[in-house]
Amino acid sequence: MKTQISLTVNGRRRDDTVSDNLLLVDYLRETLGLNGTKIGCDGGECGCCTVLVDGRARHACLTLATSCDGTHVETVESLAAKGRLSAIQRGFNEKLGAQCGFCTPGMIMAAEGLLRENPMPTEDEIRAGMAANICRCTGYVKIIESVQAAARELAQ
Ligand code: FES
Ligand code: FES
Repeated sequence: MKTQISLTVNGRRRDDTVSDNLLLVDYLRETLGLNGTKIGCDGGECGCCTVLVDGRARHACLTLATSCDGTHVETVESLAAKGRLSAIQRGFNEKLGAQCGFCTPGMIMAAEGLLRENPMPTEDEIRAGMAANICRCTGYVKIIESVQAAARELAQ
């Protein structure tokens, strides 16, 4: 079965007919060519596929595209504007929050969602807010420092 969906992705209106079992991550990557959203575990365990749906972090590998009808979806491609990194991207860059970088788009979107809800989170709140995102490379200290740096910048 196929269903017509209308949604906004990174500020652009989309009208597409999609299979009812199409996952949001595949819709973003294969239909829209937005490859910034990564597929890690493909089973809701790693957070690589994190995007924002109506401003809240969501695992795109566990989300049907049809369930996003009428929503606003944001991916990592939406963050930089006019060639300038967003605060959270800059935080990850300057504080070395990315190593191999595979988890980074999901980390960044989870952090983006967190800072919108809680602009100045404590370290414990950052750890809790990003508990659904796993990095295979690092001990998370640099990732937390990256989010803290972004929060400080946004507060200025
Ligand atoms: S790819 Fe979605 S949680 Fe791992
Ligand atoms: S930077 Fe390598 S998995 Fe996170």
